[in-house]
Amino acid sequence: MEIRFVLNGKETRLDTAPDRRVVDLLREDLGLTGTKEGCGSGECGACAVLVNGESRLGCLMLAAQLDGKTLTTIEGAAEDGRLRALQEAFVRCGAVQCGFCSPGMIVAAADLLGADPDPGREAIREGLSGNLCRCTGYAKIVDAVQAAFETLQGDPIP
Ligand code: FES
Ligand code: FES
Repeated sequence: MEIRFVLNGKETRLDTAPDRRVVDLLREDLGLTGTKEGCGSGECGACAVLVNGESRLGCLMLAAQLDGKTLTTIEGAAEDGRLRALQEAFVRCGAVQCGFCSPGMIVAAADLLGADPDPGREAIREGLSGNLCRCTGYAKIVDAVQAAFETLQGDPIP
């Protein structure tokens, strides 16, 4: 089937099997390998992407469900101010170790920021509880999310 959606700010049309997983569509068909696959069963958050501004798991979402939607991946950070601020804060705060979980963490945090402009550390921890970090860098990850929220509040990035 042909699906139409906005991918990282660009109108996109694609011929694909309707039941192709979004994570495969991104990584294998579109070469957007920033989105990772960890568990493949909805438990680790590595494959998180923003669909209409909300965090969704690419390993549980099918191509047909993208039709008519807006999809933002970590590669879209240049266009999405929340993603960009978070990405910069992760680097600044030393929240990236091997980096495997980082795209999913940043996407989940962007969703959190969209829902709650002023979350405390507890809300950040809870908001990211579906995202696993094998390197267990959780404290610095929470620091980074808090720093990004402060940046965005003080000096909003478009
Ligand atoms: Fe999708 Fe783990 S790969 S949640
Ligand atoms: Fe390695 Fe999180 S930084 S899995």
